[in-house]
Amino acid sequence: MRFRAVRGMNDILPGEAPRWRRLESAFRARAELYGYGEVRTPILEATALFAKQIGETTDVVEKEMYSFERHGDELTVRPEGTAGAARAYVEHGVANKEPVSRWYYVGPMFRGERPAKGRYRQFWQAGCELFGDPGPVSDAETIDLVCAVLRDVGIRDVEVCVNSLGSGETRARYRDALVAFFTPKRGELSEDSQRRLEKNPLRILDSKDPRDAAASAGAPSILDVLSDEDRAHFDGVLAHLAALDVPFRVDPTLVRGLDYYSRTLFEVKATTGDLGAQNTVCGGGRYDGMVESLGGPRTPAFGFAMGLERLLSLMPEGEVTPSHAVFVVPVIDDDSAAAPITTAALRLARALRDAGVRAELEGRRVRLKNALSRAEKLGARWVAIVGAKEAEAGIASLKDLARREQHELPVGDVAGWLLRQIAGDGRGAA
Ligand code: HAM
Repeated sequence: MRFRAVRGMNDILPGEAPRWRRLESAFRARAELYGYGEVRTPILEATALFAKQIGETTDVVEKEMYSFERHGDELTVRPEGTAGAARAYVEHGVANKEPVSRWYYVGPMFRGERPAKGRYRQFWQAGCELFGDPGPVSDAETIDLVCAVLRDVGIRDVEVCVNSLGSGETRARYRDALVAFFTPKRGELSEDSQRRLEKNPLRILDSKDPRDAAASAGAPSILDVLSDEDRAHFDGVLAHLAALDVPFRVDPTLVRGLDYYSRTLFEVKATTGDLGAQNTVCGGGRYDGMVESLGGPRTPAFGFAMGLERLLSLMPEGEVTPSHAVFVVPVIDDDSAAAPITTAALRLARALRDAGVRAELEGRRVRLKNALSRAEKLGARWVAIVGAKEAEAGIASLKDLARREQHELPVGDVAGWLLRQIAGDGRGAA
């Protein structure tokens, strides 16, 4: 029986991991520069948490969650990070300890969507959640943070789309306007949208079904019914974005697929690359009602999450750092001399690592010639050879593959010598 990874879930092998790390480090560095600290919440949460926050009539909750019962608890593998972060924020009474909290996270999320390029069932998000600040300054600043991360990793061809959904009263008025607009067209809508029409007509605007898209043409725009306060908030966001030179487009049709948003919404879309319909690399917005609905104090909040697989498909290659600085090779010609040679090689490799030099030890019995070509493949700069002669004299022969030189050094001096070489030619960390 040969097993394969679960459909829609990907292995990330060591060869790909450096690119992942580069992206994650760029995100972490930016988040920390903006004052965010990392939060790590469980992968499992109560199913009711997601159902209530994301919304019972969203695709995520209706069709995509991995939910199960265990020990009497109804659990769901998190489809996103916001609800869990807000749950933790309330559970730990964070609002009583500080007026504003900035949290970020990086981790896998799970949605049973139909797999396609850029759309997976396990995918990675890097996100930020800002609690306690009503905006609009922080909305613009957070969107700017996303743009900075993208710039830092060399992704340039993107478009920032923004919209406002208004808050409570505006939302209710808009809902009524949409119900009035779609009710005469009920028969033209998809089955999902017919079902959602009264409860959640906003979802029709976000539907991927071509019937819904056609029926939505000419639908009332939320921007026409914003209250004065919502309008002033939105104008503030746009003015601050302009002040930060963030290029953006107001898209009144942007509603996003999760129910918890109010006021500002935004998405960042790739304008080049082969992601097709999966070109949204980041989405987020304001969710001022969530903390209170979870039993916490009234707390405004704003956040976003970026899809790491989508960003990686757009990220330029960048420099590849060799995986090993030194390849340590014991050369054993005669079985009776094996033990001291192996011991000397093991100790040398450990001493190198203790000194901070990346070293791989050839543990198999191979010919020197093969070991040298393996070292080249690994991208090692040096090969430290320990044979019978070296083991007896307490030395190692160091082959510099770049300069085609060889040096003999006492084993105790190898680490220091290498570190000086590495520092001297500025070839990066050991
Ligand atoms: P979302 O729009 O559902 O928002 O997801 C954010 C990003 O995750 C998307 O823009 C996309 O890049 C990536 N993504 C989503 N689903 C998939 C998938 N199946 N495969 C690959 N990538 C995917 C949220 O999750 C909100 N929690 C964002 C947020 C944070 N809003 C406020 N705070």
